[in-house]
Amino acid sequence: MDKVRLGVIGCGNMSKVHMATALGASEDTSEELRPYASAVQLHGLADVTEEKAEAARAEFGGEYVTDDPERIFTDPDIDAVLITTWHDTHAPFSLRAMEAGKHVLIEKPMAMTEAECDQILEAEERTGVKYMVAFRCRFAMGTRDVKREIPSPDNVITFARVPGIWGPQIWAQDPIKGGGQILSQGCHVVDLMMYLAGSEPESVYATGGVKHHESPEVIDTVNASVRFANGAVGSFMGGDGGAGRLLLPGAYVSCPFFVMAVDKGRSGIAIDHGQNARFESAVPADVWTPPYEIADYAEEFGNNKSSGMGDILPSFGRSIIEDETPIATAVDGARATRFILKCFESVRTGEIVKF
Ligand SMILES: NC(=O)c1ccc[n+]([C@@H]2O[C@H](COP(=O)([O-])OP(=O)(O)OC[C@H]3O[C@@H](n4cnc5c(N)ncnc54)[C@H](O)[C@@H]3O)[C@@H](O)[C@H]2O)c1
Repeated sequence: MDKVRLGVIGCGNMSKVHMATALGASEDTSEELRPYASAVQLHGLADVTEEKAEAARAEFGGEYVTDDPERIFTDPDIDAVLITTWHDTHAPFSLRAMEAGKHVLIEKPMAMTEAECDQILEAEERTGVKYMVAFRCRFAMGTRDVKREIPSPDNVITFARVPGIWGPQIWAQDPIKGGGQILSQGCHVVDLMMYLAGSEPESVYATGGVKHHESPEVIDTVNASVRFANGAVGSFMGGDGGAGRLLLPGAYVSCPFFVMAVDKGRSGIAIDHGQNARFESAVPADVWTPPYEIADYAEEFGNNKSSGMGDILPSFGRSIIEDETPIATAVDGARATRFILKCFESVRTGEIVKF
């Protein structure tokens, strides 16, 4: 296969970030991925609000628009689908696409329940299609440095609190459509924590609860302690309701999340979804010399390029064309969703929860 004809389901804000890279149209796509970006062609665009699909087609191209995702799934001219809808449709649309033989790029979170995770893992294995979760932090410039310098940390410290309170008008805060801020945004940083840890989580203990929302259904605060299979430990502090900017006053974006990886005197921190990074050494220079103290890639290259967002769809295209394993698979999507759900379970029961 030398081209990927793409169907898009959900033509809202995030889909545009990805569609802007099709046909190699974005300056923010890395040089090495440009050929694959050029090979991705927009074909059918679907949205329940057809005008949104039409507006996206006017901006980015495509052969047709529809308000019926089924037209995308049954179109023999479509090789792959990008799913950028609200969260309750992620699993059903993923399963439908895989059954129809389409490769899938899904926005996060991959799924909202453990049962959905199991179904997607089973379908990914059985159908053999490429299934990729758009975990953006893996593509960011600072993340790459921390992963390279500290490949096997003994401690990963994760902070994912946003500055404001997500109001009930935000769809992702709805218990059915979204699952709340921690499942929605937190899963990016949970995936970054897992990616940098490089080991499977074994157990988690979390405190927290509903601290500043009316609805009792969506936990908005989690302070978790996690143990990994390789003996490493970690922590995850997630939620909305403030403190987001206090630790990182100069942060470039509105969600100044970070993951700090520590390994026997070597420390690295991936900041702002991994766009920027900092290092500190407590070991002699002949043992380890950090590549730098502070890299402000967002300042140097701009927000879009340093975030790696321009590489996500092209990287998915490469995995199809070169028959490679995608950067983040259903295993990674399931791990992030399960971790958050197990944090919620621990908050509710007061027990250590095993994986
Ligand atoms: N990676 C990131 O940094 C990032 C940022 C924002 C959003 N996201 C993710 O992107 C996805 C979309 O979020 P958004 O901010 O673009 O939301 P949005 O509301 O702007 O867009 C979602 C679109 O999906 C459409 N839609 C909903 N249900 C549908 C259905 N059943 N069939 C067809 N279309 C349907 C809506 O009409 C809407 O146009 C979510 O998974 C979200 O978590 C990721």
